[in-house]
Amino acid sequence: MRVAARMSTIGTESAFEVSARARALEAEGRSIIHLQIGEPDFDTPANVRAAAKAALDAGATHYPPFAGIPPLREAIAADASARKGFAVEPGQVFVTVGGKGVMLYAILGLVDPGDDVLVPDPGYPIYESLTRFVGANPIPIPIRMANDFRLDVDELASLVTPRTRVLILNSPANPTGGVLTRSDLERIAELANRHDLWVLADEIYGRILYDGAEHVSIASLPGMAERTIVLDGFSKTFAMTGWRMGYAIVPPVLAKTYGQLIINTISGVATFAQVGAVEALVGQQDDVDAMVVEFKTRRDLIVDGLNAIPGIECRRPVGAFYVFPSVAGTGLSGAELTERLLVESGVCVLAGSAFGHHGDDHIRISYANSQANLTEALTRIRALVEPLVATRV
Ligand SMILES: Cc1ncc(COP(=O)(O)O)c(C=O)c1O
Repeated sequence: MRVAARMSTIGTESAFEVSARARALEAEGRSIIHLQIGEPDFDTPANVRAAAKAALDAGATHYPPFAGIPPLREAIAADASARKGFAVEPGQVFVTVGGKGVMLYAILGLVDPGDDVLVPDPGYPIYESLTRFVGANPIPIPIRMANDFRLDVDELASLVTPRTRVLILNSPANPTGGVLTRSDLERIAELANRHDLWVLADEIYGRILYDGAEHVSIASLPGMAERTIVLDGFSKTFAMTGWRMGYAIVPPVLAKTYGQLIINTISGVATFAQVGAVEALVGQQDDVDAMVVEFKTRRDLIVDGLNAIPGIECRRPVGAFYVFPSVAGTGLSGAELTERLLVESGVCVLAGSAFGHHGDDHIRISYANSQANLTEALTRIRALVEPLVATRV
């Protein structure tokens, strides 16, 4: 008995595997601080939960229309038109299982074997994994700390070839927290127009911004709404990771493609959950605002704390809830330090290399954890790293 040959090309998302390992250590009685998980530690807002519960009791237990229930498609279109700066019609909106669903359908629907797909490196690992899975070539776009984790547009231009089919952007970014500026996006848009590229714009952290940073959707720039698939969702903004709900905003020309892929895979997303999602968008937004305020306090706590540890250098990102410090000064690679932090210190982070080779000297820390736990984690990291650095000099 054997599995399909294509399974040798698929990758993984190490956060899920590392979490299982950390839980196994906890089961042995070890104290572990979880900084590996990319999810808010807050509960889904009460009004959203109440709306979904009421929907269940009201009988919203049948198949939904495959693209999403009309009130949700309308709410997403109105919200996106207001926040993203371009006019979105409900017919362009497709509700998917997680933001991940949008990614899967973009790659299945647009990429042929042998095509090139430009993916951020470091970047969310599923972009590369799915690209390989369909027999295409992921081409890494180097993302560097020295450039505040924004891609270099000239370097990006040098990577475009006649085989390039899709450019994947993620701003604010996982794993770095980097945010592309309007001027970066204008230059990228010009490149995409010139080379006739599709763009998958992953904007799932678009509302988690600090210090007045502006969220610019590339789809709002001239010529881009026709070639951009916007990926967004409920997981991060509304602390709804377990609801598994995301959405695509696609150019009208891709509506049939998205519809067919949804019909062939999931048939649609849980009906009562979609009712909750309507409330998330149209109801009060205080919980989202409060969450972002708290994340900012935690960001400063973790950035200042890490920079006070010798051998670690950490930028202060203006988006998402991750930091991606360089640990080159410790003498260890990101992967080596990650392993020692878990086993010796009980601090679970991810190796930067899990996001691409340009992350080799880094670790990724999710600061979606309490200030008390972050403070304790910093104490433990310092206790491990300080002696390492002291013996180097
Ligand atoms: C950049 C990025 N895109 C998409 C996703 C997937 O989101 P969802 O959980 O809604 O599938 C994640 C989750 O970590 C992410 O970090």
